[in-house]
Amino acid sequence: MPVWRYMELCLMHPRYGYYLSRDPLGREGDFTTAPEVSQMFGELLGLWSASIWRAIGSPETFRLIELGPGRGTMMSDALRALRVLPPLYQSLSIHLVEVNPVLREKQYATLTGVRNITWHDNIDDVPEGPAVILANEYFDVLPIHQMVRRETGWHERTVGMDANGNLYFAPAPEPTPHFEVLLPPLVRAAPLGAVFEWRPDNEIMKLATRLRDQDGAALIIDYGHLRSDAGDTFQAIARHSFADPLKNPGQADVTAHVDFQALARAAEDVGARVHGPATQGDFLKRLGVEARAAGLMAKASPEVSADVAGALKRLTDSGRGGMGSMFKVMAISDPRLTSIAGLSDQPDETEQ
Ligand SMILES: C[S@@+](CC[C@H](N)C(=O)[O-])C[C@H]1O[C@@H](n2cnc3c(N)ncnc32)[C@H](O)[C@@H]1O
Repeated sequence: MPVWRYMELCLMHPRYGYYLSRDPLGREGDFTTAPEVSQMFGELLGLWSASIWRAIGSPETFRLIELGPGRGTMMSDALRALRVLPPLYQSLSIHLVEVNPVLREKQYATLTGVRNITWHDNIDDVPEGPAVILANEYFDVLPIHQMVRRETGWHERTVGMDANGNLYFAPAPEPTPHFEVLLPPLVRAAPLGAVFEWRPDNEIMKLATRLRDQDGAALIIDYGHLRSDAGDTFQAIARHSFADPLKNPGQADVTAHVDFQALARAAEDVGARVHGPATQGDFLKRLGVEARAAGLMAKASPEVSADVAGALKRLTDSGRGGMGSMFKVMAISDPRLTSIAGLSDQPDETEQ
């Protein structure tokens, strides 16, 4: 089967799929995400959402939509920050798009007492209207196609099974006709054996079309690259370490890096405006994460203060273990929104 189908089954098989059966987050799980590192992350995203609400004329009903909200931590932190603006808080209608029943339960518990909140299987079910859409580590779990360059052309990469039940990668016997014409410039001269990954555009196009027609912005945060290029990033993460993606299907999180240039191109193709991308470190600093950390540390015990300092470093640093430059942040918006907090209208070129 093609890699994209394998990835889809690993994550979403109704019985064995990774995302339909467990809470993968946190120290006890397989990985830790930015909202789980510190409350500062969700708080700043909440205030960023407030800046969009203001920029689009403070609508009376404002939808705050989160795609793949994990344990509900980011939404809970964002809402706490938004309480400082009662007119906005009153206008909120909250929508969580989540497929995982175990995580839905956790979100329900984390957000107990929050009014005007609805869960959805798909963003198509969220009612129309001005909105902010937040997606942290959501796009990396959407299945990718992998293509392999051979003398005969570009072949879809597939997953096969040998007589002993072991899985292996192999290119499809026939090339995909005319695939070359779809290649971005950096990939056209890729050597034999090179792998090129692409994700279907339908999810980003849905967001972009909605924002183009109904006001608002989406913020996409994920690990990935600024330029569309060749490379094999299909990976599995289990117990906080890399694992073989062909071992134990359904038991590990299988993901691939996000191609931000491809997302930007698809959003612009339908007429939305793109802001950034920037690195997560730069974005959070521009939103004031250092001042927020200093504020939290000023009132805290030495132990808590050290935790806040550690979290700030993890969220913004580029070194080993830091999320600062590996993660990128990009917004897409209604084309009339010409400037957006924390992001410029051009990609920041310093990091790939
Ligand atoms: C890597 S986790 C990120 C969780 C959260 N955003 C965070 O930062 O902690 C991916 C999230 O997306 C959800 N998810 C995965 N595939 C999805 C899909 N096709 N539709 C909606 N949610 C999905 C998962 O259940 C989970 O909540």
